[in-house]
Amino acid sequence: RPRTAIVAAMAQELAALLAHLDGDFTVQAHAGRRFHVGRLHGEPVVLVLCGIGKVAAATTAVLLAERYGVQRLVFTGVAGGLAPGVRVGDVVVAGSLLQHDMDASPLFPRWEVPLTGRSEFAADAPLSEALAAAAAQVLAEPGHYGAAGLSDEVHALGVHEPALHQGLIVSGDRFVSSAGESVALQAALPAALAVEMEGAALAQVCHDLGLPFAVLRTISDRADDSAHVDFMRFIEVVASHASAAIVGRWLQSL
Ligand code: ADE
Repeated sequence: RPRTAIVAAMAQELAALLAHLDGDFTVQAHAGRRFHVGRLHGEPVVLVLCGIGKVAAATTAVLLAERYGVQRLVFTGVAGGLAPGVRVGDVVVAGSLLQHDMDASPLFPRWEVPLTGRSEFAADAPLSEALAAAAAQVLAEPGHYGAAGLSDEVHALGVHEPALHQGLIVSGDRFVSSAGESVALQAALPAALAVEMEGAALAQVCHDLGLPFAVLRTISDRADDSAHVDFMRFIEVVASHASAAIVGRWLQSL
């Protein structure tokens, strides 16, 4: 069976998945990371916390491919909502990804990764569809995100019925935390559903290596003036449960 890498940027995002690892996993420390090699719902996996930002994501993706021989990669965690309908608690599965802070103009078009001729890197369609199907199932259940009693806490964060979105996710080495910056990003990139700090870097590396990948994000904030407060609350209450429930459902469907 193909070995799947499951990667997150923050400990809270990976915690529930780590707790579900089958008993006999090993932990290998390398390059400042801890690679958990084992099985999750019977599927061979490597779980790793990659760190925050594009460089951390790129390093991790290369190690997973070259050192651990994974055949596909799923990145999970939280993101800031950009498009108007993308609200806290919603789930976004990337169709493609772009580095919003890449700009070698006027030598190359804004956002284009120089000499590649492209600015957007597509996620693997079958993998993304399978994750989206798992997300739709989990969101349709009472007590969303698969954790009993969680829905009250989610509602306390101002979340209503969580929706599933698929489309463009943009990444950059910035935590977007002002309405001004969020509005500017939306004006520049109207197709962007959400913003985070790793996905597009991973996408570029996986494209170079020919490795199928998908990015699944839960919306923790609206990338506005209260982004930092919403982010910290959401990441504690929901982030890990959402990732674990959806990725777990997907693995069980294989
Ligand atoms: N991840 C979650 N929220 C974010 C934001 N507002 N900006 C960048 N990355 C994020």
